[in-house]
Amino acid sequence: MDKLRISGGRPLEGTVRISGAKNAALPVMAATLLAPGVHRLRNVPRLRDTQTFARVLELLGAKVAFEDHLLMIDTLGVNSVEAPYELVKTMRASIYVLGPLLARFGRARVSLPGGCAWGPRPVNLHLTGLQAMGAALDIEHGYIVGNNVKLKGATVGFDVVSVGATVQLMMAAVLADGQTVLENVALEPDVTALGEVLIACGARIEGLGSRRLTIQGVSALRPIDATIIPDRIEAATFAAAAAMTRGKIRLEGVVPDHFEAALRKLEESGCAVQRGADSVTVTGPARPQAVNVVTQPFPGFPTDMQAQMIAVCALAGGTSVIEDTIYFDRFTHVPELARMGARIELKGNVAVVKGVDRLYGAQVMATDLRASASLVNAALAAQGETLIDRIYHLDRGYEALEKKLGALGAQIRRVN
Ligand code: EPU
Repeated sequence: MDKLRISGGRPLEGTVRISGAKNAALPVMAATLLAPGVHRLRNVPRLRDTQTFARVLELLGAKVAFEDHLLMIDTLGVNSVEAPYELVKTMRASIYVLGPLLARFGRARVSLPGGCAWGPRPVNLHLTGLQAMGAALDIEHGYIVGNNVKLKGATVGFDVVSVGATVQLMMAAVLADGQTVLENVALEPDVTALGEVLIACGARIEGLGSRRLTIQGVSALRPIDATIIPDRIEAATFAAAAAMTRGKIRLEGVVPDHFEAALRKLEESGCAVQRGADSVTVTGPARPQAVNVVTQPFPGFPTDMQAQMIAVCALAGGTSVIEDTIYFDRFTHVPELARMGARIELKGNVAVVKGVDRLYGAQVMATDLRASASLVNAALAAQGETLIDRIYHLDRGYEALEKKLGALGAQIRRVN
């Protein structure tokens, strides 16, 4: 199993080009099922998760080809409606195929994802929303099964703001019969980007960027030709690395507004942030200051940056309080950071971080994608050498991480 060996203590300096966003690419890949034809997706990050999704599409009968970051998907020959457990359990976003399959074929057999390393992560809102649109869905042997479904427009109000449920229902509604109104939808840039892609293919969606979407079903969509938006979480992760290493990093190819909440917290902790049209330069302070963080749906501070922010606070002057209101159990990085000298007390979904002067290299284990990113950042700032085990988690969501960090001056090597 691959590990990362990182020798810390050097400021990261230079320019890094941010990749396309994993969480924007996956729903667009699912949306290719809505229209038979050849779809072109540009700026798709080469990651384990995009490869897994490509595999799901292939199993459904699509032809998929990567040419560098251009992904071509031919959905003309899709002849299966089954997404198997073996793939869905490795990547929950596979469930995105459910809405498009029901919309185009009236049938689907999609495995329930099951638990996640850091909590239950239910899909009840996806199912009740589709049921409200007339899909009679059964759970059979761990699979969500729908047959003879004719999706009809409906009004669906989400109790909780959910990225996944919003994109699922948007994809179902664009081909449904009549008008669908979605209330309390997610505003994450990934959701808005999907809406824009669907509109460009002929979908009729009003209210993008607001909490209420009105969608008039159309009978067919054109194939997709779209560019995936930049990865705001990758960008913010590099920004946090600058904050921890007294570094200066220019992030290129970004939309600064997409990670403004993270940038503001980094400024509060002492970073200097210069925002350009499609670039951001972050300069880390001599030592970060403690900050308090509460994760919220977009435009609030993202849960996907909670772990990396805890790592920043681990080194900060003073005590920080970090609360995750989206995922209560997403703290597997805490005991690993403690192995590097961090002083963090967990009280339910609240981490109280007492900043230390120095973190020390240690052997640690990655446990999920963002937890792994926080360990990498901590290792880059720590004195001595850190060996991070189980880095396959990182390969799910950070493209060419060692190469990008190496170009910024990090001493980082993949070993096995
Ligand atoms: N929720 C429900 N019922 C549902 C769906 C969600 O109660 O049917 C709850 C969740 O338990 C959570 C909240 O709603 O408390 C928000 O979850 P959401 O549905 O928004 O999460 P998701 O769609 O499963 C996406 C990202 C995650 C990111 C979350 C929150 C993708 C593929 N995944 O997940 O990204 O943490 O939104 O922003 O877009 C990551 O990239 O590391 C990652 C985990």
